[in-house]
Parts: sequence; structure tokens; C-alpha cells
Amino acid sequence: MRKKIVAGNWKMFNNLEESKELINGILEKLKNEKVNCDVIICPPYTSLSESAGLLKGSVVKLGAQNMHAEDKGAFTGEISSSMLKSAGCEYVILGHSERRTIFNESDDDINKKVKKAFSAGLKPIFCFGETLSERESGITNEVVKRQVTEGLKDIPESDLVNLVVAYEPVWAIGTGKTATPEQAEEVHSFVRSLIKELYSETAAENIVIQYGGSVKPENAADLLSRKNIDGALVGGACLKADSFIGIIKSA
Ligand code: 13P
Repeated sequence: MRKKIVAGNWKMFNNLEESKELINGILEKLKNEKVNCDVIICPPYTSLSESAGLLKGSVVKLGAQNMHAEDKGAFTGEISSSMLKSAGCEYVILGHSERRTIFNESDDDINKKVKKAFSAGLKPIFCFGETLSERESGITNEVVKRQVTEGLKDIPESDLVNLVVAYEPVWAIGTGKTATPEQAEEVHSFVRSLIKELYSETAAENIVIQYGGSVKPENAADLLSRKNIDGALVGGACLKADSFIGIIKSA
């Protein structure tokens, strides 16, 4: 039985004060809830250390939204895995479509980051997903297969226990257009069979596959009730304590 994971990707929202306010709001509301899933928040870098302090002793875990693949060096503006670890992160989102498209990250770049995250003891939340034109051209599975195969290249099966993967169709991100539970389930089931092909039946059975793209309290329960949908990676709806808690309750 896979445990569901609800993660909030804050993207470039919330300065330090706003971050503290949102975290306090989430923790306050969670006090009255019986939480049956793992909960992760991924604030911007500048709020990570402070967030780690606020989250100590709570059920909410901390993640970052990106990192560099090198340990250190002359990479102005970048952040390393050890910086994230020492700021209190347990998870790191890698390969988000906004990183792939706006910042031109390739499958190979992302693969290097995934490897580095594992070696640093961080758990990657590895994202992939097709664009609208790729879906309309009927190549969704082909694109997803390439992204997953290349992104996880040379990753040993023993690392998979610390991996979360997230299917985020690009056309559903921030658009209000959610993939239907059937559309999402179809890709999730395909990815599970791909993991079986690349690794083993046990690896496929155990891997946690989140869905992301316009998840809201109103559609979360339906999505999360599908056999192969093991959680949600939430953007817009995680920026308000009430809607984030609503999704956690659905899980
Ligand atoms: P939205 O929930 O705003 O569509 O964003 C999804 C996302 O990109 C999470 O990583």
C-alpha cells in the first residue's frame, strides 16, 4: 500500500514574512486534522531555513524547488544540494516544466541533478509531462517515456525508495484546466508499467506517482481515488492554507 504525498510548490511566491504567515496558518489548521498522507511544502530558497524552524516537530516536511548539480563553484546565483540539506530540506523538486521550458533544462541536466540529490541524501520529486501540442499530436507517452527514461538514467533501483515522481501535463499547469482523472490515470498507469520495464515489478508497485496541474480541493478527491495516482503536487492552491488543507483532507 503506497502512502499518498501532497506537496505544495510555492514557486516564486511569498517573501519571508508571508512565508511565516502561511506556514503558521497551515500548522494551526492541521492541528485539528488527522493526517493520513505525507505533507511537503517547497517555499522559495530565501524562506527555507526559517521554514525548517517553524516546521520542526510537525508532520509537514520541507523541500526546495530546484538546485544545481555541482557541489560548489563559480555558479553565480545557484544553490547546491549541501546548502539545501543544511537549510533543513528533505526533498527537492527537479525537472519542473517551468525549469525545462523557461530555464532550458535538458533531460541530461535533470538527470545530473537527480543523481546529485540522491548522493546528497535529498529525496527528488522528479517532474515530467507533455505540452498541449505534444498531447494533440498523440505523442504523450513517447514524450513521457523519454523524460522518465533519460531523467532516471543510471539511477540504481536501490535509490527508488527515496524517489517521488510527478506527472504534470504542461497544459494543465496554472491554467485551471485539470487533466481528467481518466487522462491522468492513463499516463500514471503507463509510467508504472515503464518503471516495471526499466526496473522491476516491485519498483513499479512501490513508486509514488503524484499528479500536478490545477489540483484544487474540488477535484482532488476524484483524482486521488484513482488506482495509480498517489498524491498531488500543488501550485496555486497551496498558497492559501484553507485550500491546501482541503487537498490534504482529500488524500
Ligand atoms: P498549479 O496547481 O498552479 O496548476 O501548478 C501545478 C504545478 O506546477 C506544481 O508544481
